[in-house]
Amino acid sequence: MTTTVIEDATGVNTNVDVVIMAAGKGTRMKSRLPKVLHRLAGRPLLAHVLDTARALQARQAVVITGHGAAEVEADCAANALALAPLELKFVRQEPQLGTGHAVQQALPVLADDAIVLVLSGDVPLTQPATLFHLIKACGGSQLALLTLEMAQPDGYGRIVRSGNAAEGAVQAIVEHKDASPEQRQITEIYSGIMAAPAALLKRWLARLDNHNAQGEYYLTDVVKFAVADGVAVCAHKIDDALQVAGVNSPVQLAELERAYQLRQAQRLMEEGVRLADPARLDVRGDLLCAHDVSIDVNCVFMGKVNLGEGVSIGANCVIANAVIEADAVIHPFTHIDGGELGVTVGRGALVGPFARLRAGATLGAEVHIGNFVEVKNSTLAAGAKANHLAYLGDASVGERVNYGAGSITANYDGANKHRTVIEADVHVGSNCVLVAPVTLGAGGTIGGGSTITKSTPAGALSVARGKQVSIANWSRPAKVPKAPKE
Ligand code: UD1
Ligand code: MG
Repeated sequence: MTTTVIEDATGVNTNVDVVIMAAGKGTRMKSRLPKVLHRLAGRPLLAHVLDTARALQARQAVVITGHGAAEVEADCAANALALAPLELKFVRQEPQLGTGHAVQQALPVLADDAIVLVLSGDVPLTQPATLFHLIKACGGSQLALLTLEMAQPDGYGRIVRSGNAAEGAVQAIVEHKDASPEQRQITEIYSGIMAAPAALLKRWLARLDNHNAQGEYYLTDVVKFAVADGVAVCAHKIDDALQVAGVNSPVQLAELERAYQLRQAQRLMEEGVRLADPARLDVRGDLLCAHDVSIDVNCVFMGKVNLGEGVSIGANCVIANAVIEADAVIHPFTHIDGGELGVTVGRGALVGPFARLRAGATLGAEVHIGNFVEVKNSTLAAGAKANHLAYLGDASVGERVNYGAGSITANYDGANKHRTVIEADVHVGSNCVLVAPVTLGAGGTIGGGSTITKSTPAGALSVARGKQVSIANWSRPAKVPKAPKE
């Protein structure tokens, strides 16, 4: 999780309470999954918003749930630890009578001294720095709105200013459905994000009604109450539409995903990473790269991945939770998933094509793992090689070991897992079965096709298979001719 530390946070944002509206149905997603749990860059939309609240060093985040409330709350709660010290609270809004009604539900858990920042659970890409400006603009005494110029403002709430001048004081937000033809010409729209002093917000929300085109309690009506009360309303206008873009449909979700990924690609390239095609990269987590990293097309990175200097990643690799050390080469179609244990690929190692490294695979320097080789919870010391069609599970492999094609560690007896130890410089022939627990002594050789059930001495040739016999002049059975029909 990336955290943006806000430089001059002192004093200004110690009392920020974030309210996240997440009760809506998301009908257009046409999905059983609540909308805010759909994933962007591998994480629920709502998790992105909660991360933002944490980055703002907010005091608490109050999530308003309704549709799929139990599922949404359970998902957030599962990640609560990662959000600390942000305090997470839930309030339910049932039924959903509009955005104003939604925020009303949160009022009992908001202290009067708070600056309330209202966000939506389906708007995942707002930058903490943008919100910090909004919080500063609110300053505990004003109403601050995040706004945007839009060439196609249909559907959005319009910012109505006095004298219709772009610099005129904000008078109201008028929803599209309630707007007059003249108001619909206004291109400055309300983003859905505002910051307000809690005490004032409480007063204004008590005055809401639903006498409008949609019969809803509009949060946006607080603007006219602020104006009536003589409270200054300021609009903080940004020009980056992506920051306030919401997700209402699979199309919008895919658009946001691509925009987000393109930004990640740009950031990586600015750091010196060479991408074969910035449009064909997916980073669903944190990807850290040293200098001179190159990444071919269609690679997916998940969880925490660290690529050392000079690392090269071939096309179509999926890499999760792994550390790839300097100058290692990951050939195309390699799948690496470190899970909770992680995977380490040593300096100058060669992996793939078509290799699979699972949790706990730890490869030393210059290790070679070739096609259709699977490694799980095993350590391979420097220079060890398993180049073709092999399985190493729960094994400790010494330096310079050569592990033959088709060989496997039989690490599971049906009930328990056992370890295989292959000491330095052992040569395991092709098609061997190493029945764990077993230790192959240093420098030993295992004859191809052996099933090894007992540990082998150092330096010895060990063979465990049927002896080859040849029977001279062997005549193969011949077909008996069928008797002709009578
Ligand atoms: C809202 C604004 C509009 C703004 C637009 C920006 C209002 C009245 N209008 O309109 O000015 O331009 O956002 O996208 O606020 N939600 C609840 N409970 C409800 C209703 C909504 O939790 O009863 C949640 C939704 O799930 C969503 C968010 O609030 O996450 C915004 O609701 P939505 O219906 O999308 O608002 P708009 O009508 O688009
Ligand atoms: Mg609506």
